[in-house]
Amino acid sequence: MSRRKLIIGNWKMNNGPMEAHQFLHDLEDELKNEKIAKDVDFAIAAPFVALPFMIGHSHEEGKEAFYLPLAAQNFHYEEKGAFTGEISLDMLDQLGLEYLIIGHSERRQLFNETDEIVNKKLLAALKTQMTPVLAFGETESEFDANKTETVIKNQLTSSLKSVKENEMEKIVLAYEPIWAIGTGKTASPEQAQKAVAFARTVVAELFNSDIADKVIIQYGGSVKPENVKELMGQKDIDGALVGGASLDAKSFAKLITFDKQK
Ligand code: PGA
Repeated sequence: MSRRKLIIGNWKMNNGPMEAHQFLHDLEDELKNEKIAKDVDFAIAAPFVALPFMIGHSHEEGKEAFYLPLAAQNFHYEEKGAFTGEISLDMLDQLGLEYLIIGHSERRQLFNETDEIVNKKLLAALKTQMTPVLAFGETESEFDANKTETVIKNQLTSSLKSVKENEMEKIVLAYEPIWAIGTGKTASPEQAQKAVAFARTVVAELFNSDIADKVIIQYGGSVKPENVKELMGQKDIDGALVGGASLDAKSFAKLITFDKQK
């Protein structure tokens, strides 16, 4: 089964409209001489305030050739109402976004998002045209205690609760060991491959092996131009969710042209 690769840059709380403007111009320059492989998709999950501006840029006159798909880092699962400070899925749909990150460990750990909330968000996202990217992964102490597989199984089982087979086909998964996020401590390609392959078996158990074969599973955690090619070369790893190394256009260009890296 040959699956497409998907590289998503997650800017987190970095790069506002002004930095996004610079990024887009620099990225266009970087990609002038580099071809992105046909089987690679990519996107940037920018802060909410930068998104409308970036959509505008993609559609600027004379710029049709350059289109940067966009993702949201967060949203509320309720349709609308008195939720001060929150953003609804309909608002994001109106912008024409393509992906929604759900269940990132920073949301889970710093903003108390439980598996139940993650599940509610996922079920709400499935009612839209946007593709949910569901993140999961173990903490350092769980990794040290050899609990990686148990955590992956539990998180996927509860986050994917009530998801139907035809809906699962629309979901992207992102394995992100928490100890590797923003720490410079990347999982070795073998560790990442093993965990991602295990996640695929969980999908096979929860749904079926055909769906498990097709589901795109990214790896995330200190992915950078220097290690992206080897990680992407692993049998079960279908892309990357990248924080720090996606902030700069030169580095992001290298990530999405990983097949050309050393
Ligand atoms: P990092 O972040 O690439 O900076 O480690 C990854 C992520 O949080 O998705």
